[in-house]
Amino acid sequence: MSNAKPKRIGILTAGGDCPGLNAAIRGVGKTAIVEYGMEVIGFNAGYSGLINKDYIELKESQLSGILTLGGTILGTSREKPFKMVKNGQKDLHKPEKIIQTYNDLNLDCVVCIGGNGTMKTASLLGKEGLNVVGIPKTIDNDVWGTDVTFGFDSAVQIATESIDRLHTTANSHQRVMIIEIMGHHAGWLALYSGLAGGGDIILLPELEYNIRSVCKKIESRYENKKPYSIVVVAEGIKHPKDKSAATYIAEAINTYTGIDTRETVLGYIQRGGSPTPMDRILATRYGAYAAESIANGNFGTMVAIRNNELINVPLEEVGGKLSLVDPNLPLVQNARKMGVSFGDEYL
Ligand code: F6P
Repeated sequence: MSNAKPKRIGILTAGGDCPGLNAAIRGVGKTAIVEYGMEVIGFNAGYSGLINKDYIELKESQLSGILTLGGTILGTSREKPFKMVKNGQKDLHKPEKIIQTYNDLNLDCVVCIGGNGTMKTASLLGKEGLNVVGIPKTIDNDVWGTDVTFGFDSAVQIATESIDRLHTTANSHQRVMIIEIMGHHAGWLALYSGLAGGGDIILLPELEYNIRSVCKKIESRYENKKPYSIVVVAEGIKHPKDKSAATYIAEAINTYTGIDTRETVLGYIQRGGSPTPMDRILATRYGAYAAESIANGNFGTMVAIRNNELINVPLEEVGGKLSLVDPNLPLVQNARKMGVSFGDEYL
């Protein structure tokens, strides 16, 4: 790859969409064009766009008016070009096509905006000789190496508001309301929205729960003249795969306690719509810093934030790791001291 000063860069968004992607695209693009005089293109549909040379030129005018938009103007996909295909074999054509696209378009760097999978792929592309810079996004907040990802704050807001709204039916009907929050591996979103929304029981993938423990908590609330409860469950908690986590927990609570239960699976509402001001700012800061990183030749890195300071973390360190909720986190301990159950008190 050329060691010359970077001039032409590509941007892609990969993995699940989340609020703030357009703010990040705008942050990278505007800084690259206005401050550094670079040319910017955008690849459509994540890594598929790189494989298929499917792209659009991004001028400054196209980057205006997108700050508040949800989703991504570039589209996204879960394409993983290095994924094993049959018999443990890799489809070598895809990485080859990506290198071809990169060279054909005279790129100096590709900015890959995404979660863990996206960072892993970006790291592998770096090993193939491409200049890459990663920007971490996801409502799950589980990207290793940074304190926070954009998308998370918006999702916490949506999930919290949803939990707030469940309190009225829980109280009016004296029911147990179960709400399932996204997060397969990491329970950050369930933890934050559960605490912000005043959940009585919060079940996270990182903390082993026991259904009898959950029921004991509900029964003790009942005996203390609180015949209603809010149970916040992360989608990734241990449960039979033939039903949702919320349905499983609702049925189990009803079976053991006889109390009326209802479940809500919040789903994609959590990933939709306009980003919060915090996410707009975070995505903008990440984007601007990514452009600066390119100008400074800090390739093979992910931009990250630690103690409110922007830094570059080697992509090699990020790929394949997850940032999970530590059961000893002060926030978890504080919640326990206030009587919030994590379903593991009587294991
Ligand atoms: O990574 C974000 C996320 O929304 C997870 O919380 C969720 O488990 C997953 O994506 C769903 O992915 P998909 O939309 O591809 O089914």
